This record gives sequence, C-alpha cells and structure tokens, in this order.
Amino acid sequence: MRRRSELLTTYGLNVVSVRPEAGAVSLAIERPNRRVLPTEDVWSRWNPERTWGNRNLLVGVREDDGELLILSPGKQHAPHTLIAGSTGSGKSVLMQNIVLAVAATNTPRQARLVLIDPKQGVDYFPFEGLPHLAGPLIVDPSEASARLEQLVVEMDARYGKLRAARVQNLAAYNEKVASSERLPVIWVIHDEFAEWMMVDEYKDAVTQTVGRLGVKARAAGIHLVFAAQRPDANVMPMQLRANLGNRLILRVDSVGTSEIALGEPGAEALLGHGHMAAKLEGSPGIVFAQVPFADTGFVERLVETIRAESSPQEK
Ligand SMILES: Nc1ncnc2c1ncn2[C@@H]1O[C@H](COP(=O)(O)OP(=O)(O)O)[C@@H](O)[C@H]1O
Ligand SMILES: [Mg+2]
Repeated sequence: MRRRSELLTTYGLNVVSVRPEAGAVSLAIERPNRRVLPTEDVWSRWNPERTWGNRNLLVGVREDDGELLILSPGKQHAPHTLIAGSTGSGKSVLMQNIVLAVAATNTPRQARLVLIDPKQGVDYFPFEGLPHLAGPLIVDPSEASARLEQLVVEMDARYGKLRAARVQNLAAYNEKVASSERLPVIWVIHDEFAEWMMVDEYKDAVTQTVGRLGVKARAAGIHLVFAAQRPDANVMPMQLRANLGNRLILRVDSVGTSEIALGEPGAEALLGHGHMAAKLEGSPGIVFAQVPFADTGFVERLVETIRAESSPQEK
C-alpha cells in the first residue's frame, strides 16, 4: 500500500485494492473507462429462489469473478445492514436497487416496504406508486421514530404467533398457517439517517428500537437497511453500529471512516459511483463489487408493471 502513490505517479496505475491469495497477491487497478452496469441487464442473470416471497437481494456484480453479489438477510447474513459512503458515492442508488429487488421478487402480500428519507424523499418519488409501501414515505423524525417503535411491537406480536404455532421463524410460520394468515416480511429502508442523529430524542429512540429489533428481528421477518455518510461515534453509537451487521460500503472520505464503517482501511480508495466493498456477516473477508444503476426510465416502467400485475385483492 505504500507503493500506491508511486504506482500512480510513475505509471499512472491507480491501485484500488490489494488482496492476498493462496500463492499470489491480487491487485485491482482502475480501468480507464468504467462501464455503467444497468440494473436491467444484471437482473437478466438473476434467478432468485421463490417459495413464498424472496429475501435474497441482488446488490452488485463481484469484481473478482463477475458473479452476482447477493445479500441474504433472511438466512446467511446478518438481519440488518449498514450502507455508508460520502455524498455522491452511490448510497441512494444502492438503496433503490434494494427497493426494486424486494418489489420485483415479492407480491405486496409477501413483502412490505417502509421508506424513510430525511431528504424529503427526492430520491424516492418514483417508488411512491409501489403497492408494497406500508404507508407514505416518511420524511419527519418523530414519525420515523414512532414507526420504528411500532415495529418493535409488531415483532413482539409476531413472536407470540410463532410461539403459539410452535415454529421458529416466519418462513416456517407461513408454511404452516392458512394462506390468508401468512405474514409479510417487512423491510425498513432508511436513507441518510445521520441527518436526524443531532436530534437527541431521535438518536435515543433509534438506538433503543434498533437494539430491541436486534437479532430477534430475523425470525420475525423484519429487516433494516440504514444508510449514512460517516457512521462515526457522534452520529452512530457503537451499539447501533453493532446491530447493523452487514456492511455495504461505498467510497468514504478518509481511512478513518473506512476503519469505522468497514472495520479496516480500503473504502477510501474505492472509485465512487457505486464501487463497493461488502463485508457480510457469515461470509469471510471483503468482496469488492459494482452496484448496478437503475435509470429513471427503468424504474418507472418497472413500478408500472408491478402495479399492473398486483391485483386489488393482492394488495
Ligand atoms: N451504481 C452506480 N452506477 C453508476 N453511476 C452511479 C451509481 N451510483 C451512483 N452513481 C452516480 O452518482 C450519482 C450520485 O449517487 P447517489 O446514490 O445519489 O449518491 P449518494 O446517495 O451517496 O449521495 C448518481 O446520480 C449517479 O450519477
Ligand atoms: Mg443519497
């Protein structure tokens, strides 16, 4: 890594990552012309498994082998996810991919989306037509904390149902009960949550409710995806960070921020525009990947198709 600036100044090679392997060291070097990966194209290679609903989400294309990077908060990985990256690094685009993946692979009966965006929802207007939305976009901190508290109540109620049905998790519950009694997975997508962390009541409420949602939420089928620019201690208490076990880290502004967000240096050398370092609980090491890009036209067409396909009784 000390050679990074030498390689850059002498040879014009921008080393993005260094990875030790069995008998070699792999260097990833920035290519002169980067390509945008349209979500539409990447999805054509994706065959999500669908029993009743899907909790495996496509979040990127791996840099090492070109395979799809799938986030699995329902099973393999941690139940909750932290997205970090400086302004313009691609956080909202990644969250949009997640929202689209949920909506395209689940009916509104199978998955509900709670969208929270302190930036007045500008990045999420096209999603307002999704029948999966459990209420309008939340743009107010007191509403957001009330909603999160409500989810803790919902989680406890679901635990009661699981116990009564003598099953361990939502998937088993949904297999056992009549189809009319099945419960949807709930996804909470919270963009730019640091914006509100200056508000003490919000900070305390979020930290507490996320703590209570912790690992129990997986069995109850509640998953959080939170994004912030710099998840350092003053915007993000340790306890909160610890509860968001999966890390999808885009380019950050310093080594220090990378150490906090990713647990090690490296995210400061990412290229921006959806270039990502992923550390997923339960999977070894860090995976470098490119997040696909969903342009407005694709989003609008997809939302329209999903609306048309979900019948009124399905909603
Ligand atoms: N995955 C991506 N592929 C290509 N371009 C991207 C990608 N992600 C972001 N960008 C570009 O960067 C801009 C900012 O992305 P955005 O997600 O709004 O950043 P953030 O939310 O982190 O501030 C986008 O409008 C787009 O032009
Ligand atoms: Mg954003």
